[in-house]
Amino acid sequence: MKFEKKYLRYKEVVDDYLQGFIVEKKPHSIYRPIRYVLAGGGKRIRPVLVMLSCEAVGGHWKDALHAAAGIEILHNFTLVHDDIMDNAASRRGRATIHTKWDPNVAILVGDELLACAYRALLKTRSSRIQDIAKIFTEGVVEVCEGQGYDKEFETSLDVTVQDYLLMIRKKTGKMVTVATEIGALIGGGTPGEFRALSNYGRHVGRAFQLQDDLLDIVADEKEFGKTVGGDIVEGKKTFLLLEALRRARGKDRQLLLSIFRKKGAAKENVDEVRRVYHRTGAIQATLRRVKQDIARAKNELEKLRPTPARAMLFWFTEMLLHRTY
Ligand code: IPE
Ligand code: IPE
Ligand code: MG
Ligand code: MG
Ligand code: MG
Repeated sequence: MKFEKKYLRYKEVVDDYLQGFIVEKKPHSIYRPIRYVLAGGGKRIRPVLVMLSCEAVGGHWKDALHAAAGIEILHNFTLVHDDIMDNAASRRGRATIHTKWDPNVAILVGDELLACAYRALLKTRSSRIQDIAKIFTEGVVEVCEGQGYDKEFETSLDVTVQDYLLMIRKKTGKMVTVATEIGALIGGGTPGEFRALSNYGRHVGRAFQLQDDLLDIVADEKEFGKTVGGDIVEGKKTFLLLEALRRARGKDRQLLLSIFRKKGAAKENVDEVRRVYHRTGAIQATLRRVKQDIARAKNELEKLRPTPARAMLFWFTEMLLHRTY
């Protein structure tokens, strides 16, 4: 319970930072939606990982706050553009920017958020600021590459699990690694600690996207805050789809192949696809992979000194495994 309290406190610190960060009011057409995005909640997983990684190597979380907020702002930028690319109408239980306003607003809001992310990050006081800025920048590049693969794969007929894993390492995993690596640098971690936290981030990042794909099909829509089945409708090559296709026979296989070929499915088919995912064992297979990655992530934590921050990271990792949104 004490960990939960600490998580909520860190989340609140980030929320407060973001609330106070954008002081400009005009033009309204950009600052209204920007405030809407940043006040939209979200789990704040990446900034909390920056703060905890910093603490786990002996630093103080306050030293990592600008960077933590910077990563969260960057994450929000990727979400605003991702929602345009994925034709997503809701996020965090609210209308997305391009639906509440329009796509042009959402493009501009994303651009500004990217600049604001750097504005926050570069307030960090650290002798390693150049390395930190480099890691952050390479992170942005990789997310774009990952998102590029994600879109390419929608219309590709020969996507493999290997391709999928590369795509999620870039679009999602990288940002989690950026969070843990930057936290380790700000906290003055040793090269060994940096490596352990970097590997930890890689495993958590992979588990996180696998789980996101899973939740997209099994979550409670209200709690999830996003449209359930969105990946199927959009023809996303998720681990579930690839795994189910590998296992399915007969009619089930025909249904999945039609999604593969037609770049998505009608909304009415989502329930049937869910049944196929269950029947073929794709759901169970995904869960097994998530658990495997979570175990690997915890192995990396074992390499760190036993500190309260490390204990909190263990708890946090376990919490991610059981998340429902
Ligand atoms: C959503 O990220 C995008 C993915 C990489 C799966 P989160 O699940 O962290 O979204 P919020 O910030 O908590 O809303
Ligand atoms: C998003 O992946 C990864 C990003 C870099 C934004 P998804 O497209 O699966 O994320 P959600 O489900 O919309 O949050
Ligand atoms: Mg996407
Ligand atoms: Mg999306
Ligand atoms: Mg998703």
